[in-house]
Amino acid sequence: MELKIALLPGDGIGPEVMAQAVKCLQAVEETFGHNFIFSEAPVGAIAIAKTGNPLPDETLQLCRDSNAVLFGTVGSPEYDKDPYAKLRPEQGLLQLRKKLGLFANIKPIKAFSILDRKSPLKKEIITGTDFIIYRELTGGIYFGEKQLSTDGTTASDLCVYSESEIGRIAHLAFKSAKSRNNKLTLVDKANVLETSRLWRRVVSKIAESYPEVALEFMYVDNAGMQIILNPTQFDVVLTENLLGDIISDVAGVICGSIGLLSSASVGENHAMFEPVHGSYSQAAGKNMANPVACILSAALLLEHFGLNEEARAVQMAVYQSLRKNIVTPDLNLKTKYGTDQVGDFIANNITDTDDNLSMNNE
Ligand code: IPM
Repeated sequence: MELKIALLPGDGIGPEVMAQAVKCLQAVEETFGHNFIFSEAPVGAIAIAKTGNPLPDETLQLCRDSNAVLFGTVGSPEYDKDPYAKLRPEQGLLQLRKKLGLFANIKPIKAFSILDRKSPLKKEIITGTDFIIYRELTGGIYFGEKQLSTDGTTASDLCVYSESEIGRIAHLAFKSAKSRNNKLTLVDKANVLETSRLWRRVVSKIAESYPEVALEFMYVDNAGMQIILNPTQFDVVLTENLLGDIISDVAGVICGSIGLLSSASVGENHAMFEPVHGSYSQAAGKNMANPVACILSAALLLEHFGLNEEARAVQMAVYQSLRKNIVTPDLNLKTKYGTDQVGDFIANNITDTDDNLSMNNE
C-alpha cells in the first residue's frame, strides 16, 4: 500500500519521539512491502518562531494533501508563563482539528499486565481494563464564542452543540461498542448543562438503531471516580470535548505512564494520530522521553488503513520491549535505555510472524 504521511513533530519531545515512530513505520514498510512517503512540516511554538503562525498555510496544505497526519506535541514553557499571549502553540493543534474536520478523538485505555505495578492503582483494580474513549473534538466550549469585558473583569466561553455534531460521533461510538462488548457509557453533566441534556436526547434516539448495545449515562464527576475505582466496567465511553479532555487524562493513570497512551483523531476526510502526552519541554533533547505513545499512535494509523497485521506487529514489538524492560526512565528509574534505544529495539523487533504472545496474557 502507498500512503502519504505528513509528519508534524512540533515542540519539546515531539521530534525525538516522532523519529522513533518513523523508524517503526519504515520497519513496517520493509517487512510488509509497503511504500510510505513522509513529508515534514512545522506546527506549534516552532512554527510561531519560524513563520509567526502556529499552523502555517503550507503545513495545513501538506496535511490536506496527505492520507494521514502523524502529530508529535505542541507547547512551550515560554507561552505557559503568559496565559494572555495572543499567539499560542496549542492554537496550531486546535486549528488543525477544526480545519481537517477531525471531530472524533479515539483513545484506547488498556492496562498492560506486565506493568501493573507501575500504576498507582492496585493490580486487582486495573487488571483486565480495556476500554475506548470517544471524545468529541471540534465543538463545545473549546470552539464557542469567547469574550472578555472591556474592563477585563468578566469573561465567558460559550458551549454550543448541535444534533448533527453529536450524532456523527455517537454513530462511531455505537459501531465501536457493537464490535466490542456492546456497552456504551455517555459521560455528561446533564443535571446542570443544557448541552448535556441535548447529548442525552440525541444519543438515546440513535441507540434505537443499535439494539444490541446497552446505553448507560454517567455524570462526569462520578465517571472520574468510577474510572479510578472500577475501570473494568467500561467498554466504550462517549463524551463531549472538555469533559473528554479531563477524563482521558484521569484514565491515563491506569496504564502507569502517560508515555504509553496513543490516540487517533478522525473525520470524514482526514485522520491524525498523536501521543496523548504533552511537550514535556524539561526532557526535550535529553533522550529520555518515552517513544511508545507515538509508536502506538503509528500503529493506530496502520489500523486505520486496514493494515491490522502490521499494527499488531508494532504492538507486539512494543510489548517485547516492556517485557524485556527496555524502557525509558518514566517506567524504570534505573534504566540505561534512552528514547532512541527503545525506538531501535522496537523497530528491530517488528516481524511478520505472529509469535502468539498476547499483549496481556503471556
Ligand atoms: C489534548 C490536549 C489539548 C486539548 C491541548 C494541548 C489544547 O490536552 O490533546 O488532549 O486540550 O485538547
